[in-house]
Amino acid sequence: MSLGRGPRTVVMASGSGTNLQAIMDETAAGRLAIELVGVVSEQPAAHALQRARAADVAAIDVDIGNFPDRAEFDIELDNAVSSLAPDLVILAGYMRILADELVLRYAGKMLNIHPSLLPKYPGLDTYAKALSAGDTWHGSTVHFVTPDLDAGPQIIQYRVKVKPGETEESLARRVQRGEYIIYPRAIGWLASGRLTVEDDRVRLDGETLKEPIQVEEQEC
Ligand code: GRF
Repeated sequence: MSLGRGPRTVVMASGSGTNLQAIMDETAAGRLAIELVGVVSEQPAAHALQRARAADVAAIDVDIGNFPDRAEFDIELDNAVSSLAPDLVILAGYMRILADELVLRYAGKMLNIHPSLLPKYPGLDTYAKALSAGDTWHGSTVHFVTPDLDAGPQIIQYRVKVKPGETEESLARRVQRGEYIIYPRAIGWLASGRLTVEDDRVRLDGETLKEPIQVEEQEC
């Protein structure tokens, strides 16, 4: 009921779970040293849960529809995550704001991937926002999670140059291909102890990052 070897890792996901799949594929191939002990979702129908089951990984849903009271939902969600005793918590398309208590408990051990070049465009609809602003570059950012939405210390960014005639769909496809590269990479650094954060300063191999590591589309 778990996959791989390494620090106990829980992935939280609400949707299709393509990032989860990339994480599982890298783990199964022995390129990512984590033990994926469970996938938690607030959406029972999330395809991410099916992906977990197909890989024989524990799939736990805490159906948000069953909790008219947000505080009760937060307690159940916290219980679901904590019952798996994770060392690391990875948000992979998890679409709800987490309670501060949960976030603070996993400070320095919880990552998120957000489809923009943060600090640009926290929140939703990032592709539409980048296109309507006429941005030359768009991309995705892996960052440590803090109670402020999409605002935690940044680790690595994947950058793509916006092409003429680009649509939200084409841009999303290109950016997501990069997510499958940078997210397992960052998780691997965290899992092996190479990546740390202290007082908002991110260190990789002992060096403080002045800015997130940049990966451009053509480099991969
Ligand atoms: C990803 O593109 C990620 O940037 C964002 O949500 C999306 C999740 O997609 N946080 P998937 O569920 O991994 O396919």
